[in-house]
Amino acid sequence: MQITGNTILITGGGSGIGRALAQAFHALGNKVIISGRRADVLKEVSAANPGMAWATMDATDAEGIKAFADRLIADHPDLNAVINNAGIMKNEDIKAAPTYLDIAEETIATNLLAPIRLTAALLPHFLTKPKATVLTVSSGLAFVPMVATPTYSATKSAIHAYSVAIREQLKGTSVDVIEIIPPYVQTTLQGDHQATDERAMPLDVYISEVMDILTNQPQATEVVVERCKPLRFAARNGNFDQVFGMVNGLHS
Ligand SMILES: NC(=O)c1ccc[n+]([C@@H]2O[C@H](COP(=O)([O-])OP(=O)(O)OC[C@H]3O[C@@H](n4cnc5c(N)ncnc54)[C@H](OP(=O)(O)O)[C@@H]3O)[C@@H](O)[C@H]2O)c1
Repeated sequence: MQITGNTILITGGGSGIGRALAQAFHALGNKVIISGRRADVLKEVSAANPGMAWATMDATDAEGIKAFADRLIADHPDLNAVINNAGIMKNEDIKAAPTYLDIAEETIATNLLAPIRLTAALLPHFLTKPKATVLTVSSGLAFVPMVATPTYSATKSAIHAYSVAIREQLKGTSVDVIEIIPPYVQTTLQGDHQATDERAMPLDVYISEVMDILTNQPQATEVVVERCKPLRFAARNGNFDQVFGMVNGLHS
């Protein structure tokens, strides 16, 4: 993708990976708009980054997403990129139905349906632009699932498949599709403990490697940092069972 001169919407831009990407793109001179459910959080990030815009949007609200996209295009007619980053990750015990189903359905609505709905709402506008980019955020767990989070892992595998397929459909148009595939990173995705978990990649180190790939490999269709390669390429490397065991603590 082109790394400057964009007007970019970053969903979930109030915290974690979304916030760090928003700040990195903002620092490069892009116009950045962040979204999420918590207005106070978005307001604080935008105040810390003068010129950054914000708007609330609940990713689980199907009709709200379309209205939000229409409003956004009206307010920012130069909009030419989206990072579908908002997501949730909750442990699921499938023996605990029906509670389990509530988590599963919320996870699918947030992590899978929302990016599909938002991309559908923005695409006609993007196709009128000389250069546009749809970025998706999957996970290393798309390729080696986590036993404790079956639906989360499934939504991320689905985002991978969706990204591969829409990239092919959009070949020859002005719209590029890039999949960001994070490893385990220090954010509060699964709670406060994750932000200081030494097994997770420090957020600033992760974002710096992501921006380096986006800058120096403009044709890259997947952003896979070194730390995520064992998961991303486990099937190709022929050691899926071993990596699955390691990810899930199944081997001593
Ligand atoms: N951190 C990791 O280890 C890791 C690894 C692989 C993939 N990822 C992916 O990276 C993305 C960002 O996660 P993160 O680690 O940065 O965690 P995070 O700090 O918890 O960020 C998630 C963001 O999504 C937003 N969000 C959640 N539900 C939403 C909803 N219903 N409507 C609108 N926004 C919603 C949250 O904002 P509000 O609460 O204000 O709505 C929040 O800003 C996710 O897609 C995650 O799956 C993370």
